[in-house]
Amino acid sequence: MSAQKYVMRMTAPQITARKGKDPIVCLTAYDAPSAQIMDEYCDLILVGDSVGMVVHGLTSTVGVTLDMMILHGQAVMRGAQSALVVVDMPFGSYEDSVETAFKNASRILMETGCQAVKIESGSYAAETISYLVERGIPVMSHVGLRPQSMHVLGGFRARGRRASVAQEIIENAKAAADAGSFAVVVEGVSEDIANEVTKAVDIPTIGIGASAQCDGQILVTPDMLGMFDRVPKFVKKYGDQRAQTQAAVKAYADDVKTRNFPTDANLYHFK
Ligand code: KIV
Repeated sequence: MSAQKYVMRMTAPQITARKGKDPIVCLTAYDAPSAQIMDEYCDLILVGDSVGMVVHGLTSTVGVTLDMMILHGQAVMRGAQSALVVVDMPFGSYEDSVETAFKNASRILMETGCQAVKIESGSYAAETISYLVERGIPVMSHVGLRPQSMHVLGGFRARGRRASVAQEIIENAKAAADAGSFAVVVEGVSEDIANEVTKAVDIPTIGIGASAQCDGQILVTPDMLGMFDRVPKFVKKYGDQRAQTQAAVKAYADDVKTRNFPTDANLYHFK
């Protein structure tokens, strides 16, 4: 007789049901050990295409490929047991047709085992969202500052200072919700806009640089762990990872140079 381990993960409908209730805790992850740590505290883990910038050293998310997202999605799924895992669809993998979007989104679900995808949702996105959802793929949308459009937007800047842009963000969020998204990330907007979006949609809003008015929050994990000196102003640093890594690497280098290492071969086992 064989017994398969069955884990109960958070589901997309359970996230939707949290609208207006307990704040939803979300973080990004790109590897198994980090996902394992986050799993205890997070409702939702996003394998963000920010991986291109914070892990691979790219200057934007535009160069991130579907294969990169699948590889990191697989790693995160090995680490996370109970959070809902969402994988970002990278630039160029969903915009040109609903069929392409389905082909690539289904690859992400089938090859990683994750439960949902995220797409950056301009006005064109509603058709894609409903096409995916009707075919069994939960979708989280992303409005406001959409990093994949940074060349059109002119960089990574807060969005919605002009009334027409603010209105467009609200309309994009409404269209994404009406099309069947189970939640929507709202990035880089003022408190007023975050408030209006949160009131306008019946799905949870997940804020990043979008005030406390949202139903949940997400941060790019290496930013909040203090891995980088330069981070957006809204990021609160909860750790000092860069300084700790530097100190550890320096201490290691000093040990190597002074031959300060155990020599007993019997020590080769895990503590
Ligand atoms: O790629 C990412 O990490 C994201 C978050 C900023 C929401 O999309």
